[in-house]
Amino acid sequence: MVGVDPVNGMLTMAKALVPTAVLHRSTAERLPVDTGAIDLVLSTTSFGHWSDQAAGLAEVARVLGDGGRCHIAELKPARLFRRMFFRLPEFRTPEQMRLLVEGAGLVCDEATTFGNNIVLTVATTRTVRRI
Ligand SMILES: C[S@@+](CC[C@H](N)C(=O)[O-])C[C@H]1O[C@@H](n2cnc3c(N)ncnc32)[C@H](O)[C@@H]1O
Repeated sequence: MVGVDPVNGMLTMAKALVPTAVLHRSTAERLPVDTGAIDLVLSTTSFGHWSDQAAGLAEVARVLGDGGRCHIAELKPARLFRRMFFRLPEFRTPEQMRLLVEGAGLVCDEATTFGNNIVLTVATTRTVRRI
């Protein structure tokens, strides 16, 4: 398992939770992983923080192998939260998520809201048929 986060404290916490993980201080926009090397990309409540979401998704598409899959879960900021913080995560609706992942060349299998405030997006790579 490979993980990235730009903040050292988060990497320390991740290492304590999953000691076997290979962790890098980096961002989604710059994944330190070979092209096609990953089967599954998971992102939880991070996508809204990516400074360039289109570039991050292009990186996700690059590192996924044939038939690779990506799951992105985001939490819609509560109204109180919105009043408290100056810079909020860039929250996207399911429709916007669909356009963004397809813009990165992925197939959007699902982009949906469940519960009151969680948007889940599931996308796969276009399978390349080798002859
Ligand atoms: C709300 S926290 C979620 C942390 C963790 N994924 C979880 O579910 O507990 C958002 C995280 O996104 C990270 N982050 C900010 N910009 C990022 C980027 N460009 N690429 C990847 N992660 C980023 C932050 O450092 C922070 O750890």
